[in-house]
Amino acid sequence: MILVTGGAGYIGAHAALALLEAGEDVVILDNLCNSSREAIPRIEQLGGRRVEWVAGDIRNRALLDQLFVRYPIDAVMHFAGLKAVGESVRQPLRYYDTNVGGSINLCQAMAYAGVFTLVFSSSATVYGDCSCMPINESTQCGQPTNPYGQSKLMTEQMLASLGSADERWRIGVLRYFNPVGAHPSGLLGESPRAAPNNLVPYLLKVASGQLPALPVFGGDYPTPDGTGVRDYIHVVDLAEGHVNTLQYLRQHAGLRAWNLGTGLGYSVLELVAAFERVSGVSLPLDRRERRPGDVAQCWADPTRAFEELGWVAQRDLDTMMRDAWRWQQANPMGYEETARPVPSTASLAAQAQGAG
Ligand code: NAD
Ligand code: UFG
Repeated sequence: MILVTGGAGYIGAHAALALLEAGEDVVILDNLCNSSREAIPRIEQLGGRRVEWVAGDIRNRALLDQLFVRYPIDAVMHFAGLKAVGESVRQPLRYYDTNVGGSINLCQAMAYAGVFTLVFSSSATVYGDCSCMPINESTQCGQPTNPYGQSKLMTEQMLASLGSADERWRIGVLRYFNPVGAHPSGLLGESPRAAPNNLVPYLLKVASGQLPALPVFGGDYPTPDGTGVRDYIHVVDLAEGHVNTLQYLRQHAGLRAWNLGTGLGYSVLELVAAFERVSGVSLPLDRRERRPGDVAQCWADPTRAFEELGWVAQRDLDTMMRDAWRWQQANPMGYEETARPVPSTASLAAQAQGAG
């Protein structure tokens, strides 16, 4: 059985489903600070099987110890954490406490329970402001410029020390580029509790009329159209990468890091154009100054993940935008106000087709 921390969240929910689809049993631990329990029955509906789930905090050691006794857990996928860059600047202790302290607590509980297989959600933010593209796993350019990024780097360093100190550990560090999109059913997607800061969640609110215009930060970057370039990756591709990583770790001891990206960079304006193309919705844009802390461009060299994990991203930018739009239309306010019954997969698919 796989313990999925943060499994009610955006990426964790898709990974929990991918695990079910791969025949694994899943227990989710999530304190719902940035997610909804509504995700759980939807994972079960799509996976066709029950998921065990516990409401609780990764910083609660007694709870973790109980979980490892109660369930036959043999590996952990660790998504739980806080991820808002701006908030991390204002509340650094919360970020270090949850992201670093929570990860240490989890590893201590794992070692105590004799479970040594861990997949950790890291981020391309650990590479800092690099000018050499694409970024491979050995690239050492800089340091993260905010507490969120620092917390990911510190956790990576803690895990590396752990892997060196005790050869029983099998640790996969996955450095995500920019996860976007949603499950094609329209049942799982990103449902942040706070106002959106990231490009695609903000764009979806504009497209559905909940926000007036999409800010486009910076038009003077050294990129083809002057806007920032990122490696957007479909969340279902990302989730599948976790299953491949688990399979790898079952064969290999030690610690290894992999980039999960497509290897392609798209600008803000290219992403906007793709969204308008697949949705038929025209987006009002609000051109602004550069956003402090943003890098001009960032995209992955995903060769290592292909060669070692046998994983490659399959879904293109149009698919990412189409699936994100389907999710938004089916869940205009995210999971929250869906006290109504879960819509059937068939009715959502029909709705999505009708929407083009
Ligand atoms: P998310 O906020 O949707 O999911 C995180 C989940 O963890 C949420 O369900 C939240 O309720 C839960 N959680 C937070 N603190 C917890 C705690 N103390 N105890 C138990 N549960 C807790 O975010 P996501 O986008 O799914 O990100 C998952 C992981 O991937 C995070 O570690 C994030 O830092 C990392 N990551 C995300 C991105 C991205 O752009 N989404 C990029 C790189 C890395
Ligand atoms: N952008 C806009 N308007 C917006 C929001 C973003 O123009 O309203 C632009 C940004 O300037 C950037 C691009 O869209 O050029 C992507 O921005 P996001 O906020 O969606 O994503 P980031 O690349 O800034 O950050 C993401 C994650 C971080 C992670 C980082 C590196 O949110 O957690 O990737 O992996 F650290």
